[in-house]
Amino acid sequence: MKPTPTIPSAGFGALPEPPATGNVTLIINGVRREMQLAPWTSLLDALREYADLTGTKKGCDHGQCGSCTVLVNGKRINSCLTLAVMQDGNEVTTIEGLGQEGNLHPLQQAFIDHDAFQCGYCTPGQICSAQGLINEGRAHTEDEIRELMSGNLCRCGAYVGILAAVKEVVDKQKVKL
Ligand code: FES
Ligand code: FES
Repeated sequence: MKPTPTIPSAGFGALPEPPATGNVTLIINGVRREMQLAPWTSLLDALREYADLTGTKKGCDHGQCGSCTVLVNGKRINSCLTLAVMQDGNEVTTIEGLGQEGNLHPLQQAFIDHDAFQCGYCTPGQICSAQGLINEGRAHTEDEIRELMSGNLCRCGAYVGILAAVKEVVDKQKVKL
């Protein structure tokens, strides 16, 4: 009698334990925050889900829209494209840290003055990116601002107002982080 054929094992055994969470320290808007995070947690998720700072928006989660832009040590970065653990010890500035109600940052005021948003979803990223641009000191003309803000998309098409707002603050050159 022939032996009954057996189906080859698919290799399903006990799943490996997920990596342990680790301690990550971020200085967010001047406040030291210690968080226990899984190693794959993006900076964006750390801000939104663990630090309760939902001003930073998740659009594409793939580095394509710029809505998640924050400043790390004064430089703009797509927070969806970096792991929180990679920023351990760094200073992170979000839209909540730039200005508050009653004490608006000049870029926030300029966005209002120039009607530079409709739904507002891209706006925190636009403003953080504009501050990063100002810190870089590279953009002076409208064409340079357009080019260097091109990583921040606006699905409402408020680009005319955004350009005018950023240009106004660039021209004043008052803002330094
Ligand atoms: S959510 Fe990060 S670039 Fe779109
Ligand atoms: S204001 Fe709506 S996406 Fe820019």
